[in-house]
Amino acid sequence: MPRRRSPGPDRPPELALILAGRAFVRGRLQPVEIAIDDTGRIESVGKVRHGAPRRDVGEAVILPAATDLHVHFREPGGPDEVENLATGTLGAALGGVTLVGDMPNHPEPITDAERLREKARRVPGRAAVDVLLYANPLGSPDLESLARVAGGFKVFLSPTTGVPDVPDPSELPQLLARLAALDLPVAVHAEDPGHFAPAVDPRDPVDWNRCRPPAAELAAVERLLPAPPRLRLHVAHVTEAGVAEKLRAAGVSFEATPQHLLLSERSGTDARFKVNPPLRSDADRRALWELFARGGVPVLASDHAPHSRSAKELPFDRAPSGMPGVETMLPLMLARVRAGDLDLATLLAAACDRPARWLGQPLGRIAPGHRANLVIVDFRSHAPLSGRTLHAPAGWTAFEGWDAVRPRDLYRDGIRIVEDGEFVGAPRGEVVRPEFARSVDPPGA
Ligand code: DOR
Ligand code: ZN
Repeated sequence: MPRRRSPGPDRPPELALILAGRAFVRGRLQPVEIAIDDTGRIESVGKVRHGAPRRDVGEAVILPAATDLHVHFREPGGPDEVENLATGTLGAALGGVTLVGDMPNHPEPITDAERLREKARRVPGRAAVDVLLYANPLGSPDLESLARVAGGFKVFLSPTTGVPDVPDPSELPQLLARLAALDLPVAVHAEDPGHFAPAVDPRDPVDWNRCRPPAAELAAVERLLPAPPRLRLHVAHVTEAGVAEKLRAAGVSFEATPQHLLLSERSGTDARFKVNPPLRSDADRRALWELFARGGVPVLASDHAPHSRSAKELPFDRAPSGMPGVETMLPLMLARVRAGDLDLATLLAAACDRPARWLGQPLGRIAPGHRANLVIVDFRSHAPLSGRTLHAPAGWTAFEGWDAVRPRDLYRDGIRIVEDGEFVGAPRGEVVRPEFARSVDPPGA
């Protein structure tokens, strides 16, 4: 198995592979040759090259691999967890994702540097793709030390799975100002529990939408704005076009998930469709989709939450919120491209380019200097999703029967790790931190 080589002053990179075919370059699909060096970087794009093995993708197309900046892989986790870093990153690879941002809603929250180092030590030798680790700043004994290890921060403004405590509203401005000084990405779960309706006894997604209404999301976003100017802020899972427009006007990054773009409170009645924030009305969903399809949503992210099938078979009010999605995010959206509902360029900007840039990674574009993390897609090959045929150990999907275009092959640093839909690589994923991060403690140090 070839291995990515570190470049050095005495060893200039050498050409290792030429990938030929129609590739998404400078905003459109065009026939090119992509020269990849033995450090795993793209050396050139365009002209005919010689001097290394050449692989032609034929009728398929070459796209940048995706970054999913919002997953919950449950490690370290409790005894009932079905997912871990190994299985979660494998699902990511099969879904065309080569970098995941893992969120810290563990039973023991990741609030200090040593606990985060311990989590980082679980990645080498087990992760199929790269992992960026968010830390929870709330209650951190030493935020500065934590920032030297973390890849970013996640702030939960409302209780959700694994998150009982939220910041006191009066302390939020000070917390945001401190985080701005640390210069790391800060993702926020923005729902304001002051607008929840606890009196409602939720029996289905319509009730759940009433319990945690869009007004809670709007109120939380209003508490965040105006954000400190230097804060690298990103609002997770926006469900409403009006909230999205507010964030756009403020120049703040945000994401929408496939579930809030494609499913509504009427898509199903059981707890598989229970998620925080809730699925909304079909009118809300359609407005969000239209904004997304116009390129008005900067980032697509899955909020992958791998609850077991048995947990989701509980009565609605007792079942946990969240659904798996890292393996299906890109395939579902590629199917929308195939159906003519979404431009390929719009999808790739939201799924590949912008999330990688927000996390400070040289990924997400087919361009010289970028890592050769590439996904090979054959749009002729599509099939309905089924929980049984997914890799995810959770074993279910809320998108049962939805059309999907699953990646054929996946390259990480110029090395093929998925071939014909099967993982063929080794677990060489690494912990990454933003390239703009000022101070770096090596993971595991
Ligand atoms: O529905 C959700 N599930 N929303 C979250 O914020 C967390 C997630 C989970 O980890 O289960
Ligand atoms: Zn989440």
